[in-house]
Amino acid sequence: MTLEALPTRIELPPLKLGDITVDTPVVLAPMAGITNKAFRRLCREFGGGLYVAEMVTSRALVERSPESLRIIEHDDDEEVRSVQLYGVDPVTVGAAVRLLVEEDRADHIDLNFGCPVPKVTRRGGGSALPWKIDLFTAIVQTAVREASKGDIPLTIKMRKGIDEDHLTYLEAGRIARDAGVAAVALHGRTASQFYSGKADWDSIARLREALPDIPVLGNGDIWSAEDAERMVRQTGVDGVVVGRGCQGRPWLFGDLQAAFDGREDRIRPGLREVADAVYRHAELMIDTFGDEGKALRDIRKHMAWYFKGYVVGGDLRAQLATVPDLATLRGLLDQLDMESPYPGADAEGPRGRAGTPKRTALPDRWLESRSLNDEQRATIKAAELDVSGG
Ligand SMILES: Cc1cc2nc3c(=O)[nH]c(=O)nc-3n(C[C@H](O)[C@H](O)[C@H](O)COP(=O)(O)O)c2cc1C
Repeated sequence: MTLEALPTRIELPPLKLGDITVDTPVVLAPMAGITNKAFRRLCREFGGGLYVAEMVTSRALVERSPESLRIIEHDDDEEVRSVQLYGVDPVTVGAAVRLLVEEDRADHIDLNFGCPVPKVTRRGGGSALPWKIDLFTAIVQTAVREASKGDIPLTIKMRKGIDEDHLTYLEAGRIARDAGVAAVALHGRTASQFYSGKADWDSIARLREALPDIPVLGNGDIWSAEDAERMVRQTGVDGVVVGRGCQGRPWLFGDLQAAFDGREDRIRPGLREVADAVYRHAELMIDTFGDEGKALRDIRKHMAWYFKGYVVGGDLRAQLATVPDLATLRGLLDQLDMESPYPGADAEGPRGRAGTPKRTALPDRWLESRSLNDEQRATIKAAELDVSGG
């Protein structure tokens, strides 16, 4: 029997992050604009794992902007309240971690060093940051120190580097490990790849080997439980981080749970079940935002993901993508052919953001040295403004 023919059984022990035990070593990747309280609930109803909130900028949190306080809210039954911080300045990141710890607003904190968006990297933030070893070290050390005061495990999430000629992940992983992080997660792409091409799982395997003493989590291009199984087998990671694969498919966490339990059953929803999930998602979003119009505007982007591969007419798709309120949504969903079965492969595979590779926007002379010069120090101060996305 070939390996491929074996039933998918992912044998991994629970993931340990400090004092926290995540029985099913699966992480919902933080996604700005997606992994809010409503979406996390929808996903975790299907399976176990760690469900990370949308990233929040340290400065906005320290300034207590209403949006940042909304982002870090959790449902009462979220056992592990997981928050992701973005920051570029050790003092502000430290203050944000302190706020979370002192006010008991999180059980796990992740730092985002993976954001490839030009307005972030142009100022030295996100995936551009680990290139500056002094700054990266100071941020991680400060964050770990503040988090440890409340015994809160702190993790980092990063990319391979800026581009293939400027890789940072092995060094950043070692620095973070030495600073005392509870785990590191690697998205196997460089910043300049954005979401294009294929994630490089070999780099994940190399990081796993380089850091034998802490958990390493693998991220990139897991679209099914079978992909998760392949990643675990190929790289030896301690857990998987799943992003775009669950957009419009919150039941992927059910499939992952089954695979980790050694079961072969998979959730294959027909249109009726998809319609139910969409409606429930909308209701949860209304609860989360407290504003029906805002909730429905936000859910529009999910429609193409939910109905990918299903038989839905063009007109109906267009109307779903501009739905204004819950009553209209009900009416549109009722027009679907509820007996229509799961379409198979058409509903699977890549979805969500892709993009094309382009040179990463960076501050002047960023790549010339691995430490900050005075001008860059000033640039980076401005890097926390109005940032979202990873
Ligand atoms: C819409 C969107 C928003 C994202 N926002 C964040 C974020 O806030 N923080 C972060 O670390 N990564 C963010 N990411 C990156 C994902 O967490 C993940 O690393 C990436 O999508 C690769 O995993 P995947 O192939 O499973 O999607 C975002 C990705 C997408 C598609």
